Parts: sequence; C-alpha cells; structure tokens
Amino acid sequence: MDNFELYNPTKLIFGENRISDLSKYLDRNHKLMLTFGMGSVKQNGIYNKITSILNDYNYIEFWGIEPNPKYETLLKAIEIARENEVDFLLAIGGGSVIDGTKFISASINFKGDTWNILSKSAKINTVIPFGTVLTLPATGSEMNSAAVISRIETKEKMVFLSEKCFPKFSILDISVINSLPKNQIANGIIDSFIHTTEQYMTYNTDAKIQDSFAEGILKTLICDGQKVYKDNNNKDACKNYMFSATMALNGLISSGVPTDWSIHTIGHELTALHNIDHAVTLAIILPSLYKIMLNEKLGKLVQYAENVWGIKNGTDKEKALLAIDKTEEFFQSLGVSTKLDDYIDDKNKTINEIINRFKNRKWTNIGENGIINISKIKEILLNC
Ligand code: NZQ
Ligand code: ZN
Repeated sequence: MDNFELYNPTKLIFGENRISDLSKYLDRNHKLMLTFGMGSVKQNGIYNKITSILNDYNYIEFWGIEPNPKYETLLKAIEIARENEVDFLLAIGGGSVIDGTKFISASINFKGDTWNILSKSAKINTVIPFGTVLTLPATGSEMNSAAVISRIETKEKMVFLSEKCFPKFSILDISVINSLPKNQIANGIIDSFIHTTEQYMTYNTDAKIQDSFAEGILKTLICDGQKVYKDNNNKDACKNYMFSATMALNGLISSGVPTDWSIHTIGHELTALHNIDHAVTLAIILPSLYKIMLNEKLGKLVQYAENVWGIKNGTDKEKALLAIDKTEEFFQSLGVSTKLDDYIDDKNKTINEIINRFKNRKWTNIGENGIINISKIKEILLNC
C-alpha cells in the first residue's frame, strides 16, 4: 500500500425522510441559488417538498442543467449567479446537476476563461459553497470533488477536480429512488459498480481494507442493486444501493492503491460523440477491456472472481474469464445491452475519431502504469 492522504469534508445526511431536515443545514442569511435539471423534480414532488421548506429563505432558481451538463448552459447560470450576488448554491438533482453546480461554484469568482478550468486544469482560488439534494444514486458526485462537463461546440467531455469543490452537505433521502425510471436505476448501479472496479482491478498491493471495502460494495450492488431494479420500494435495498453509490467514489477505496480510469476515459468519448448514457458506455467497454488486459490484471481478476462471484474452480484464466462473463450478464440483467453495435452504425469511424482525439491530447498511455497504449485502446473498442 502506498502513502496517502484522505480528505473528505462532506456531511452526509442519509436515510428516510431526510429532505424534511434541509433547513437544519441551510443558513437563512444566504442569498441562495437552487439549481435543477430538466424538470423531473416537479413531477415527482421533490421540488414542492423543498420549496415549502425554503418559504422564508432568499433564493432564486436556475433550471435546465441537462444530463451530461453543458458548458454553454452553465455559462448562463454563472452570469445570473454573479448578477444576483449569490453566496450559496443548492443542487437538486443527479450527477449532472451536481457536477454543473460544482462548475458554477468554481467559476463565479474565476478570472479569465472558465473553460481553462476544464481544458488546462486552471487553479481555482475561491468557490461559492454549495450543498446537494441527491435525486439519483450513481456518480458519487454528492461526496467527491470532481465534475464532468460537456461542450456542445467541440463535442468534448472534460473532467475537473478541486479540493475546494466538495459539497458542504449532501442529503441522501431514499424516497427519491421511487420515481426513478428503470433505466436510470440500471445506470446508477452500473456506474457505481464500475467506479469501484476502476479503483480495484489493477494489481495487488496487499491493501486489505481498500480491497475488502471494494468487494463489499460490488457484492452489495449485485445483490441489492438487483432488488431495487425489481422493486424500487424495497427500503432496505434502496439504502444499501444509495450508500454503495456514494462510497464507491468518495476517495476511500482509492486511498493508497493504484487506479485505472481507462473505462471512463474511453467511455466519455462515446457520450461526447454519440450521446450514449454515461453508465451504458462503461458497460460496453468493461468486458472488452478486461479481456484484452487479462494478463496484466490477472491477479486482481482472480481475486474478484473468488471474492465477489464465489468462483472457486478452474485455472486462474478460466476464473477470470468466467467473472468477466458474469459481470457482463449482470449488466444485461439490468436491461443494458453491452454491444457497441447496438448503439452506433459507424463503429470504425467512431473508433478512428476517438484514437485521433487521444493522440492529439497525448493520452497515449492510460491505465495503471500507463499500460494501455493506443493500439490496445483500438483493440478494446473493436472488441466492444
Ligand atoms: O434532468 P432531470 O429532469 O433532473 O432528470 C434526470 C435525467 O433525465 C433524471 N432523474 C434524476 N433524478 C430523478 C430523475 N428522474 C426521476 N426521478 C428522479 N429522482 O435522470 C436523468 C439522468 O440524470 P443525470 O444527473 O444525468 O444522471 P447521473 O446521476 O447518472 O449523472 C451523469 C453525469 O455524471 C457524470 C457523467 O459523466 C454524467 O455527465 N459523472 C460524474 C462523476 C463525478 N462527479 O464524480 C463521476 C461519474 O463517473 C460520471 O462521469
Ligand atoms: Zn462514472
């Protein structure tokens, strides 16, 4: 295990009926801006619940942060927040609304071109603090400091990270799961699952806490994720799914261990070019990537096969391959096709475009130890 620093200041307010406690965490002296997605919260009652609590608060609303939040939309929000001298943001939504709010928070006092925050990792000096009411357990954005923003003009999808961008608090109320469509529940389970594998499926460093924690999250998502997918009123399963999604990407399981974010790095391009849901892109890439990197990841794949899927028989290679097949079947059991051909017609053109983008950005050695090079990326995509 390597040396590490672990810092996470986000207060989690978790469980049943927790939205009703919102006012305990929100100062009445703030000039607030509430940020929303495309309107699901108006249909499912979350908007009414929150605004009735905020009756005597001073707030404005910003609507229209899209799934895969757009830079162009966020620029409008930044302008409005500046004009209104907003000093606290409250994101009410899934990963897209929360990520968009992180970008607004980092940009309000930023001097210069805010795109540099994404394209050049420009330093963020001061942020406007924010809290969140999570409506879709998936990304972990509610307890991490990362955000993923897309730009329509250039069809790019970029990530930024800043220790200043942790939410002050996040409300995780399981009632939000009741209105989620099945495909979004599937997305949430798959995204959290693959966040966990990206921080686990590398090589062994005898990091027992991180490994067993990761295996616990994966087993919980397989068991209780499937229960929620079948019945999103199952409260115990909803709690386990929701907490898994948060714990999968809040810094804990990546502490002191190698990570490999290549499934995400490649997947983001499929969303940027073809607007395929984030989690679906990951489900498409994982089986192919693990098969092509089988030798390099064999030790961890065998550990995964044994500890997560209970596979005890066969050679190491057989165990690893069976575990990859079981993982793919698990994604398919959630109604997600894992074949790239089911989503795009021009596979070769897309692959060439992705390869060119990676070369231009000099992303030519990704994965743990930079072992996934351009020819491997091409092979992975061709086999998806
Ligand atoms: O836009 P609204 O009307 O809110 O509807 C959303 C949207 O259509 C809907 N939804 C959310 N909560 C709902 C609901 N519908 C009914 N009932 C509810 N309770 O679900 C749709 C998808 O929402 P979105 O926020 O886009 O989904 P998700 O949470 O999966 O976020 C995806 C975004 O997060 C990024 C992804 O790249 C993508 O842009 N990620 C962020 C990460 C991070 N910050 O750490 C890590 C992830 O790997 C990921 O990249
Ligand atoms: Zn993800």
